[in-house]
Amino acid sequence: QQARIGVTGLAVMGRNLARNFARHGHPVAVHNRTVSRTRDLVAQYGDEGVFLPAETAEQFVASLERPRRLVVMVKAGQPTDEVIEEFAPLLDRGDMIVDGGNAHFADTRRREASLRERGIHFVGTGISGGEEGALHGPSIMPGGSAESYAALGPLLEDIAAKVDGVPCCTHVGPDGAGHFVKMVHNGIEYADMQLIGEAYDLLRHVGGQKPGEIAEVFRTWNGGRLESYLVEITAEVLAHTDAATGRPFVDVVQDQAEQKGTGRWTVQIALDLGVPVSGIAEAVFARSLSGHADLRAAVRGMPGPGETWLDSAAHDRFADDVEQALYASKIVAYAQGFHQIQAGSAEYGWSIEPGAMATIWRGGCIIRARFLDRIRAAYESRPDLPTLLADDYFAEALGGAQDSWRRVVSTAAQLGVPVPGFSAALAYYDGLRAERLPAALIQGQRDFFGAHTYRRVDREGSFHTMWGEDRREVEA
Ligand code: 6PG
Repeated sequence: QQARIGVTGLAVMGRNLARNFARHGHPVAVHNRTVSRTRDLVAQYGDEGVFLPAETAEQFVASLERPRRLVVMVKAGQPTDEVIEEFAPLLDRGDMIVDGGNAHFADTRRREASLRERGIHFVGTGISGGEEGALHGPSIMPGGSAESYAALGPLLEDIAAKVDGVPCCTHVGPDGAGHFVKMVHNGIEYADMQLIGEAYDLLRHVGGQKPGEIAEVFRTWNGGRLESYLVEITAEVLAHTDAATGRPFVDVVQDQAEQKGTGRWTVQIALDLGVPVSGIAEAVFARSLSGHADLRAAVRGMPGPGETWLDSAAHDRFADDVEQALYASKIVAYAQGFHQIQAGSAEYGWSIEPGAMATIWRGGCIIRARFLDRIRAAYESRPDLPTLLADDYFAEALGGAQDSWRRVVSTAAQLGVPVPGFSAALAYYDGLRAERLPAALIQGQRDFFGAHTYRRVDREGSFHTMWGEDRREVEA
């Protein structure tokens, strides 16, 4: 018997993906550099389906039906290149290598181009949903050729999460498109997490609630328009008590957030593309700030505001205000992420359909949320939507939230609680909706000190004012 697909790299994500294929009735070849992992997998889960264990690369390749479909689940970076170099010489034209790790899309473009020259399809694939998702149905974002998707798509769609019967997997676009979209997914994930963190911090330090009480607030919110995986697990984490000390779990964890890099890439690439992803950037910076223990120690205890509590009237409506601020800021974070997807798509000629991305993020992935159905609908009714903020539903939601949103941001500033995510999102909203921006003044300053020229509102062309002389305006 031959395997329909093979997985090499059997750490938890690879192992669970292989089990998912097997559970769906697809014979799966499994391979790992350390052979004991392969044996353990078959010993523990062998009864879930048909596994074809391979101890060597040659055996592994030989056990795959043609065209071969080979999924690589190893660490991004050098290890991925090494595995590709190990297997590519054993493959034939038309075979497919799927990279399911969190690769940088620029690496994926490079690998795709070099393997294409050798006649091999390289399918850079974003996979989201963590270990549970990999096993029970992740959200899958494959890039690469249309031809490879024809041979691979049905298998991936089979093991992906389903929402209303629709698989959370679609062909994203050529070469690096899948990994690009996964990168932005993670950027949005960072923003979502930061915003939820700020909401918690406000309820705790302004609202005066305990973690267990705040868990209840998040549970309630999860029954409404904020319903999402991240809000759901937030309630779980907040309700958890540390067994060793009996204290709330959240109080015994060091408050320094780590990151593996995909959020940072999102911001780096956004800067290159000229896309203002301010909410995502603040989320990355907030993690970085939290990690600077030395700076924090040096500044801790510096003066803050006198009062730190709300009066009771403001207190009563505070949780509702925070819900509004969270929802509005979340809309902004997604609008920024989708802007980046559209800009990347235009830059690299990927023709990514933003609505299709919202559709495959509705289930399986870390940012899955009720909300994504709204985004899907927004792009369905208007495929050329310039920004999500301009969609009728979102515009109304933002308009309805803005009073609360402003109260929350100003209260936070007054009481000394940092809300970089909420305030960056509000500034983005106000920036885009402003009739005039002080960018005009910046153009004037640039022209003053560097003769960088400016354009006028009333005439075509570029102009310069002779600032150092008689302040005559000349056409540049
Ligand atoms: C997912 C996640 C996943 C990522 C973690 C860690 O979509 O399943 O995005 O790919 O590994 O979220 O990210 P950080 O360590 O950078 O927080």
